[in-house]
Amino acid sequence: MEIKNVQPDVDIAGSTLIAGAMTGRVPVSGSEEAVMGVDQALLDLAKFEGKPGQVAIVPHERAAALLLVGIGDEAGFDSIRAAVGNGIRLVKTKRAVTNLNQVPTEAATRAVVEGALLGGYEYRNYKTTGDAAVVESFELIDGNEAEITEARIASEVTNLARDWVNTPALDMAPETLAERITTAAGEAGIGFETWDVERITDEGLGALLGVAAGSDRSPSLVVLEYQPEDQKGHLGLVGKGITFDTGGLSIKTAPFMEEMKDDMSGAAAVAAATIGIARLGLPIRVTAVIPLTDNALGGNATRPGDVLRPISGPTIEVLNTDAEGRLILADGLGVMSRYTPDLVIDVATLTGAARIALGDRIAAVFGSDSEVASQVLAAAARAGEPFWELPLFKEYRKQLDSDVADIKNVTASRYGGAIAAALFLAEYAGDGRWAHLDIAGPARTRETVGDLVKGASGFGARTLLEVAKGMAESP
Ligand code: BES
Ligand code: MN
Ligand code: ZN
Repeated sequence: MEIKNVQPDVDIAGSTLIAGAMTGRVPVSGSEEAVMGVDQALLDLAKFEGKPGQVAIVPHERAAALLLVGIGDEAGFDSIRAAVGNGIRLVKTKRAVTNLNQVPTEAATRAVVEGALLGGYEYRNYKTTGDAAVVESFELIDGNEAEITEARIASEVTNLARDWVNTPALDMAPETLAERITTAAGEAGIGFETWDVERITDEGLGALLGVAAGSDRSPSLVVLEYQPEDQKGHLGLVGKGITFDTGGLSIKTAPFMEEMKDDMSGAAAVAAATIGIARLGLPIRVTAVIPLTDNALGGNATRPGDVLRPISGPTIEVLNTDAEGRLILADGLGVMSRYTPDLVIDVATLTGAARIALGDRIAAVFGSDSEVASQVLAAAARAGEPFWELPLFKEYRKQLDSDVADIKNVTASRYGGAIAAALFLAEYAGDGRWAHLDIAGPARTRETVGDLVKGASGFGARTLLEVAKGMAESP
């Protein structure tokens, strides 16, 4: 879908006009012109009230059709983005034209473009029947050029992450994902290194190797380095890249294993964000460290009770092989410490407990101090991705004390599982500024609504982009 900025006098013959309406107020501001000529009786007939999620398609005197999308009670960034997302999937013409970007709210153009590109996303690589979406040209009347560019890049990298995560694990081995990431990064002018299993062994990444031991597919580790000339700070990103999580010998039950091709969503988010930052040309140095492996249960798999030695930090007694994300992140954070960034953020589908605490739409954020967490929360709010802060409650740390090693990878109790995992990571994050994002809930979308399309969400990439933008803009 191509995004175009057009003049108000654009010829709309043959296109679908997308206009918005607020609850009880049809038409809505920013759309009066577009809906001129619409018969109120038709809207009454369609029972269209402007509620969120509601849509109505009615004839229009100049366009092929007028698609009215419900905005609800408040015309803000989230409601506009959602309304356009709901609308775009129903367009049956090659062209769609809208002036919803003129609604007087913060970043309305960005909301409209994200709604179209994110809401219009489809993953059809394995479909041999059915039709793909038809919209080729999405046109904004008098859109804000800078916002169009930003939103297009943010949406495209989100959809790139969605593509990677949606790909079945059969076709997404650790080395395959490394290849996909480095190819896309290279195209964006980002430097990269891929460590194979020999290099990973030589470097002493014993925790990553311990998780990889159960799989016939080799692990990999990608380092991305975006080094612009002008550098207003250095951001370090670490992403969990489990290409499939069976649980290992502590095997998952079938229902919990079903969705585990998603377990590289953190890796996808940090790679996508790095690519977005480079494409936007932000004056921020970015280093991304992405450990990649299956968590399988072959004959050489790590056993409960085994002890692993990560590149640095405490030795780990593995009592549950299904708590594997924190193991590979321990090595990822260890590698990151070599680069001494100003701020390290790791992103991971880490715990079912985070999903239990916050549900399917909200991610958890933990910060080495409250200021770091606030920085991420502010960025997430600008990105329109819901986050909630959870505490790094130090009193729980002793639950991770091991009898045989320095630390164990699980606590005896399941309560506070997201916090225990974060406290484990804190052991490897060093003394600098660090945030941990647990995206186990929102990494996957279970119901198509607004800008969210069933399947991988690409969650986190846009928040990281906003963190980088914030760093670039801070004095
Ligand atoms: N990948 C899972 C977490 C997960 C669960 C992601 C649901 C997305 C949806 C992770 O590796 C895991 O298995 N965590 C365990 C940890 C436990 C053994 C301490 C969990 O949450 O059950
Ligand atoms: Mn697991
Ligand atoms: Zn996992």
